[in-house]
Amino acid sequence: MAFIPVAKIDEIALGKGICVRVGRKSIAVFNVEGNFYALDDFCPHKGAPLAGGYISGTDVTCPWHGASFDLTTGNGVGGPCGGGVASYPVRITGDDIELGFEETAQSRDDEDEYDYDEEEESRDDEDFGDGDD
Ligand code: FES
Repeated sequence: MAFIPVAKIDEIALGKGICVRVGRKSIAVFNVEGNFYALDDFCPHKGAPLAGGYISGTDVTCPWHGASFDLTTGNGVGGPCGGGVASYPVRITGDDIELGFEETAQSRDDEDEYDYDEEEESRDDEDFGDGDD
C-alpha cells in the first residue's frame, strides 16, 4: 500500500470535511474529534459532495437528501444511500494527513498525475521577467 499526503491536519476544522484530489479521484477527508477519515466524495444516490455533509458521531449525512454513511467503513447506514462508498486508510505523519491506496497500475497513474499537478503549480510560480528584455 502506498500512502500519499493530501492535507495538513490544521486544514480541517473539528467536525468538518474537505475535498482533496488524488489523480482523478475526489476524496472527502473528515476530522472527527482529532481522528481523520476518508471516503469517496460522491454520494451514490445523486452525486452530492459528501465533504459538505453533516457529521454525527462517526457517521456523515449527505447534504442533499440525507443518506448517511459510516465514516469508518463507507457503508450506507440510512436514507437513500443505495449502498456505500469507498473508504481509505488514513495515516498521520508529522502534521501530514496521508491516504493509503493499493498499489495497482491505476493507482500509480493517479500518483503520477498528483505529482504532475504539483509541477504544474510550481511552473505557475516561476518568474518570467518583467518584459524589459
Ligand atoms: S445525493 Fe446524497 S442523499 Fe441524495
